[in-house]
Formats: sequence, C-alpha cells, structure tokens
Amino acid sequence: MKQITIINGPNLNLLGKREPEIYGGMTFEDYFQKLTAKYQNLELTYFQSNIEGELIDKLHEVGFKGDGIILNAAAYTHTSVGIGDAVKAIETPVIEVHISNVYAREEFRHHSYVSPNASGIIIGMGLKGYELAIDSLIDA
Ligand code: DQA
Repeated sequence: MKQITIINGPNLNLLGKREPEIYGGMTFEDYFQKLTAKYQNLELTYFQSNIEGELIDKLHEVGFKGDGIILNAAAYTHTSVGIGDAVKAIETPVIEVHISNVYAREEFRHHSYVSPNASGIIIGMGLKGYELAIDSLIDA
C-alpha cells in the first residue's frame, strides 16, 4: 500500500472560513475525508501546523520513508529558507501544491523556496490540486 503524507502550512486550518472567494468554502478536514474515501487503497496521512519548525520536523520524519509528500507550505513557501532546505535534504518526492494561482496574486507570492527542490508543482486548481498530486504519485 502506497504511503502519502499531506503537509499543510499556516492558516490552512482556516480553510472554509478564510477568504472563501480565494480558497473555497470547504474545510480541509471535510476534503480529507473525501480523499480517504476516494483513495482507500492508499495510506494517506494529513498534518497541518502554523509553526515553521513543526513543518520542518514533519518533513524530516516522513522524508526518508513512504512514497510521496504533498506540501502546501502556504505563506512559508515565500519566506522559509528552512523549509526549502528541508525539502532539499529529504529523499521522498515532494509535490508542491497551492490552491490559488499564486502568479495571479501579489508579487511576493511569485517566489517559492520549495519549487527548486519539488518533484512537481500544482498551482491554482483549487483543492482538486491535492488529488492531482496524489494521482501523479500513484502513477510514479
Ligand atoms: C497558498 C498561497 C500562499 O501564497 C498563501 O500564503 C497561502 C495559501 C495557496 O494554497 O494558494 O496561505 O499556499
């Protein structure tokens, strides 16, 4: 059974309430239930933190096992050398996901410390982006 970990960064615990015109009206917990129902043949794990160091610790924990990591580092994408270095340091492939099209938004969202070391990037497809990432890891 393939093992895939979804890691979400800061403020993504507020999905459903936060700027629904950008991020939609569904909580990630509800979406994750949908994912586990759809991908019953996968061991899917979900972790969210608003704390940079906890995200780095989780990348270290799962980064040498399993079949893939789906990382939405949220605002830390654009600021965190530490998360970028962690993605570079680990061995498990990382797919970077952003719910919104960051390139259609403020310029500070156009730079990512994650992208140079990600196996792939899915941007602007809404929550569906996580499914696209899972599908790409299943086929890998
Ligand atoms: C985000 C985009 C980031 O710029 C933002 O800070 C987020 C969410 C996205 O999924 O669209 O928190 O990563």
